[in-house]
Amino acid sequence: MTPNTIPILYVEDDDAIRLSLTQTFSLAALPVTACRSAEEALRHCQQGWPGIVISDVQLPNMSGLSLLEKLRQLAPECPVILVTGHGDIDMAVQAMRAGAYDFIEKPFEPERLLEVARRAQEKRQLQHTINHLQEQLQAHSQPDLDHLLLGQSAAIVRLRQQIRQLANTPTDVMIVGETGTGKELVARCLHDYGARKQQHFVALNCGGIPDSLLESELFGHEAGAFTTANKRRIGQIEYAHRGTLFLDEIESMPLGVQIKFLRVLQERRIQRLGANQEIAVDIRVIAASKVDLLKLSQQQQFRNDLYYRLHVAVLSLPALRERRTDIPVLFEAFVLQAAARLNRPPPTITNLHLHELLAHDWPGNVRELKNVAERFVLGMHHSSGSLLKEEEMPPLTLVQQVEQVEKTLIEQMLKQHHGRTQKVYEALGIGKKTLYDKIHKYGITLAHYRDPEE
Ligand SMILES: Nc1ncnc2c1ncn2[C@@H]1O[C@H](COP(=O)(O)OP(=O)(O)OP(=O)(O)O)[C@@H](O)[C@H]1O
Ligand SMILES: [Mg+2]
Repeated sequence: MTPNTIPILYVEDDDAIRLSLTQTFSLAALPVTACRSAEEALRHCQQGWPGIVISDVQLPNMSGLSLLEKLRQLAPECPVILVTGHGDIDMAVQAMRAGAYDFIEKPFEPERLLEVARRAQEKRQLQHTINHLQEQLQAHSQPDLDHLLLGQSAAIVRLRQQIRQLANTPTDVMIVGETGTGKELVARCLHDYGARKQQHFVALNCGGIPDSLLESELFGHEAGAFTTANKRRIGQIEYAHRGTLFLDEIESMPLGVQIKFLRVLQERRIQRLGANQEIAVDIRVIAASKVDLLKLSQQQQFRNDLYYRLHVAVLSLPALRERRTDIPVLFEAFVLQAAARLNRPPPTITNLHLHELLAHDWPGNVRELKNVAERFVLGMHHSSGSLLKEEEMPPLTLVQQVEQVEKTLIEQMLKQHHGRTQKVYEALGIGKKTLYDKIHKYGITLAHYRDPEE
């Protein structure tokens, strides 16, 4: 189902208005069923209504508000839009409180009605998608790529096509994008939808490992290859054999390791550190970078030859602010997902919320949006209703401030004395036990301060 095939139930007792607006929907090719009364509408909804409902508030017997109340029980996922009298703010507020999706004030332009209806259809469609996704998850089957990598912007539609094509080719892939744009998600999709999906997906963050360890992490080592290597260790490249090796933040790979890694890409063979023999490895490499590697290579900070070897198939992920049309879709999906995960009712997203989200620049991209959605579901947004402003933290008490100072002081001394506690308690003029009590209280890890040799 696409959003514009989601059925609309339209309730209006005035014959002239009903006929004219039914025609408006039909002309816009939206599937509409018209009813004269709330009772008639309810008959349609007995078995669960897969669409949306638009109802006048003023109806003969049962009012639009009572209809809304009944629908909240019969079809809780069905967005209900109420048509209120001109200037009837109280009624509008009451409707929103009672769980209406939106309201329209009479008189209105037909265009406005269509716009509100389309948004509700999209929301309904999204809910179907999420339900479908959950069913699939429960059935342990693989969800559609459309449901994993969300977004309807041209860039994302194209990205999904590229992923489908690339997933089944053996080429290495380079993914470029700002933080939080979905690089890791895309790498996973390439693996999960390709021929290697049954094998390992090994992710290694080149920026998260000290330079001195990265090489042995990648290549593994034989026992005795260096002083602290007491056992043979399989490296991540070998571990990814027949599967996928995802190298995140490849821009942080030291130049020395780059030379060795280029050889792996060319020869598909590796040598563990300290080993004499080479081993053949069958891996697909997916690399990700937050920065433009060409620039880095021009500044001699990234090897030119590796740059060209990696840039055979490139996926560029656009920043969220470059595809703002995706913001409402993603936000609503994340709200529904978070609500399902946290077992809470999804709060209503108003147009005001959407305006705020659309105006924001999203330096943290999709990850930031996902966090905002989660906070919204948890009710942690600003009391003014703003999603992006944080509630101010209550000021720290005097005791908390003193504790903070104390903790910092102890950490500084530990650093200065390389974790030698005797020096520290002497310098601070406190007893040994007192120092250990405080170290324990503040969760300080002594080992972080000691030199590795000792
Ligand atoms: N198009 C999308 N649809 C659904 N979820 C998305 C999409 N893009 C990103 N996400 C989600 O946003 C979060 C951040 O994505 P991911 O970790 O892949 O970003 P990244 O580019 O690797 O970020 P970083 O550079 O900071 O490591 C993840 O939870 C991911 O599932
Ligand atoms: Mg990442």
